[in-house]
Amino acid sequence: MTDTPTRVVIVGQGYVGLPVAIRACEQGHDVVGFDVDERRVKRLGAGESMVEDVTDLRLAAALESGRYRPTTSADDCAGFEVAIISVPTPLSEGNPDLSYIEDAAQTLAGHLTKGATVVLESTTYPGTTEELVGPILEAGSDLVAGTDFHLGYSPERIDPGNREWTFVNTPKVVSGIDADSLTAVTAFYETLVDRTVPVSSPREAELAKLLENTFRHVNIALINELAMFANDLGINVWESIDAASTKPFGYMRFTPGPGVGGHCLPIDPSYLSWRVKSSLGHAFRFVELANDVNDHMPDYVVRRLIVALNNRGLAMKGRRVLLLGLAYKRNTGDARESPSASVARQLLELGADVRAADPHVSDDFLDISVRRVDATADEVAAADAVVLLADHDAFDLELVAANACYVLDTRHRLTGENVEHL
Ligand SMILES: NC(=O)c1ccc[n+]([C@@H]2O[C@H](COP(=O)([O-])OP(=O)(O)OC[C@H]3O[C@@H](n4cnc5c(N)ncnc54)[C@H](O)[C@@H]3O)[C@@H](O)[C@H]2O)c1
Repeated sequence: MTDTPTRVVIVGQGYVGLPVAIRACEQGHDVVGFDVDERRVKRLGAGESMVEDVTDLRLAAALESGRYRPTTSADDCAGFEVAIISVPTPLSEGNPDLSYIEDAAQTLAGHLTKGATVVLESTTYPGTTEELVGPILEAGSDLVAGTDFHLGYSPERIDPGNREWTFVNTPKVVSGIDADSLTAVTAFYETLVDRTVPVSSPREAELAKLLENTFRHVNIALINELAMFANDLGINVWESIDAASTKPFGYMRFTPGPGVGGHCLPIDPSYLSWRVKSSLGHAFRFVELANDVNDHMPDYVVRRLIVALNNRGLAMKGRRVLLLGLAYKRNTGDARESPSASVARQLLELGADVRAADPHVSDDFLDISVRRVDATADEVAAADAVVLLADHDAFDLELVAANACYVLDTRHRLTGENVEHL
């Protein structure tokens, strides 16, 4: 618990903003959770969390404390001492869409007072805090960044569903546009997390986040491409990965999968390549190549399925295919940009009878119409093919292996004569 409760506004109550808001409340701060989505705010007010990292119990305790107020009213932002912006940063026709950050900054500008601190947490290209957020805050408040208010950037590293590395024990990179801003930003986050990592300006912090995600994106693409070649060469790539992973230095384990999803990997590296291209005129070739490989992984999954059915004398048209996992990764309900949706869409186009089991993903998240089922023994046994796309703990994988006539396991969790791996 902090000795210095602060009036905090968190703009955006999604996967990033909500955990930060609840942690801030639990540490004794007074928190307004501002979001433009009325439905979301209503659900939060009713104690219903949509984010795995915040249980309904924690949300209820925060609401009961009276120190957490979810709201859609911008007026409730008045009087903040610290404001955090955690709104989406999507791509629009391949280019960064910063309109959400602009709107959020505009809202805060109207309530900015001398001595307050504003921190951007949304993932974005280097320069956004100083070139976009600062000027909007200044124009809307008649105050001067650095002189009248503090401004900084602190990238969010939250990994939804990760129980080992949480918001609290994951070191938090912090930055400010000047020394006083850095001090203010650091002091606030020190009340929330175990360790802060100061860097010299928002640009280094913005780039650090994109470096982390681009590193992951590129390495996943490398292993995905290798998996496709290895299969064609008749080599068990998983065994090679296990063997390589015994090297205690200079190697980091990545595993193949049906593609990348979520809000980060399919999008963030493109923010960096856009910045490089627009400022320097160069293509960021690693990012372009990684996008190409990872974007095509769902096609590869479908091709493998077509071949597997073909080997049994079956056409895809009319075949019953059970997809296990619609989320982009295990134990999360996040299906944004999920490769499973692309797999499902392609199978539907080929005339398959597609069913999907995922206890975490609600239909609100889906823009495909597949029949939702539970992964029961009957459902598994009735399918011509089962595809394991997200290996949620909730799935009984032994039941799947025991009852399926054929499984394409993209996560390497099953064994058996009826199982093929990516
Ligand atoms: N989800 C992750 O795992 C993750 C991890 C690290 C960083 N990030 C980054 O954090 C940012 C937020 O991502 P998220 O996953 O929390 O998104 P999200 O979609 O889950 O939540 C964003 C929320 O912001 C709200 N919003 C949009 N415009 C607003 C406005 N002008 N004022 C108030 N609220 C507004 C939306 O209604 C939504 O509820 C993105 O930049 C993302 O790249 C996400």
